[in-house]
Amino acid sequence: MNPLAKDLNAIIENGNPHLMEMLSEIGKNLFFPKGILSQSAEAKEKAHKLNATIGIAKEGNTAMVMPSVMHHLAGLSADKSLTYAPSFGIPELRKSWQQAQYEKNPSLAGHTISLPVVTNGITHGISVFADVWLDPGDVVILPDMFWGNYNMILNVRKHARLSHYSIFTPEGGYDTAAFDAAVRAEAAKNDKITVLLNFPHNPTGYTLTKAEADRIVAVLADVAASGTNVIVVADDAYFGLFFEPEAMRESIFARLCGIHPRLLAVKLDGATKENYVWGLRIGFLTYGCQAGAAPEKVYDALERKTAGDVRGNISNASHLSQRLVHESMTNPAYKAEKEAKYKILEARAKKVKAVLADPKYADAWDVYPFNSGYFMCVRLKTVKAEALRVHVLNTYGVGVIALGETDIRVAFSCLEENDVQDLFDILLQGVEDLS
Ligand SMILES: Cc1ncc(COP(=O)(O)O)c(C=O)c1O
Repeated sequence: MNPLAKDLNAIIENGNPHLMEMLSEIGKNLFFPKGILSQSAEAKEKAHKLNATIGIAKEGNTAMVMPSVMHHLAGLSADKSLTYAPSFGIPELRKSWQQAQYEKNPSLAGHTISLPVVTNGITHGISVFADVWLDPGDVVILPDMFWGNYNMILNVRKHARLSHYSIFTPEGGYDTAAFDAAVRAEAAKNDKITVLLNFPHNPTGYTLTKAEADRIVAVLADVAASGTNVIVVADDAYFGLFFEPEAMRESIFARLCGIHPRLLAVKLDGATKENYVWGLRIGFLTYGCQAGAAPEKVYDALERKTAGDVRGNISNASHLSQRLVHESMTNPAYKAEKEAKYKILEARAKKVKAVLADPKYADAWDVYPFNSGYFMCVRLKTVKAEALRVHVLNTYGVGVIALGETDIRVAFSCLEENDVQDLFDILLQGVEDLS
């Protein structure tokens, strides 16, 4: 094992030995390399005369740049957009994203969390998480409706075992009893379990109520207290898009930070969907846990391992993307701009609810509960989902997603409010055509 990894492991062990038990084999071996990176960083501070350390090209004391590139980046300097970003992410963006977490999640008050490590979107964040914390065969518990890419990342690539529970009760709430049973059953068989929670949820658009979150937090705390190491991953890709009063307004991550030494909370979120910059590929991975008397040292060690994984994978996320997100977040108009976009999506969600309240659809489908996010789903009663999808696409030029035998997912995030009625009427027409 590299001596730097040993040093980080000693710091983590000293702060909270259960974190060491939770790290994967890769995670235990990870470190942040010194070598060229740290020599460059040192030279950046002290090499006032000549700095011949960095793997970029310079000209006239700034990064070399072609005007045809710079032409499109009005207002940004090449040094602040085209050079490499640190593997951890640019410090100013990490700080502003962390600060925003405290503002958006009141339950974080009084808790320390790590600085977020920047990833290439949340997809990459999940993959980095899996490198650092999951060994082949480890169990990941998640509901029976879930974003399909979890399977690709966690099972196909990392050989984790996915264990499912039914997502909703027949009455239309989150099935916390099924969650409770699944978590306890896996805890009885494993020293370590990973629970993946995603709210607002893809594909259903559901976010927990406060009472449901209370039960989930209580179950996880209880299982940790009984001696199982519990990693809880909150995929908050659609954070903030809560449209109904009952939907909990903060991340479950905030409720879980520091509640038990055997519980590690991991927040995966990003500017991609929250700030409507999908292709900029900016995600964040943040830790919250009990970390002893000097939590900053433990978090630093966890950040180094995580950034080491980024270094060995994509090296670093796009500097230009990070700069754009940071510039936007520090712009005085940022909050108002975000609120304006929220209002548009909220109006679409409300319109979907109003349209679907019409009893004319009742024979064709049931509506899954939704109160947030980009999506909602219906469960078809009389025709197959894929047959309906293909039919409405070919006959009416309408695209929706078929999931399994019975479910259709509608991304109302990309429908104008005025098109909502039309979409569901065409779906109903499609069902009638096929029946
Ligand atoms: C639940 C969930 N997590 C993560 C992602 C991926 O986000 P990103 O574009 O940041 O990789 C998606 C995208 O569809 C998603 O639905």
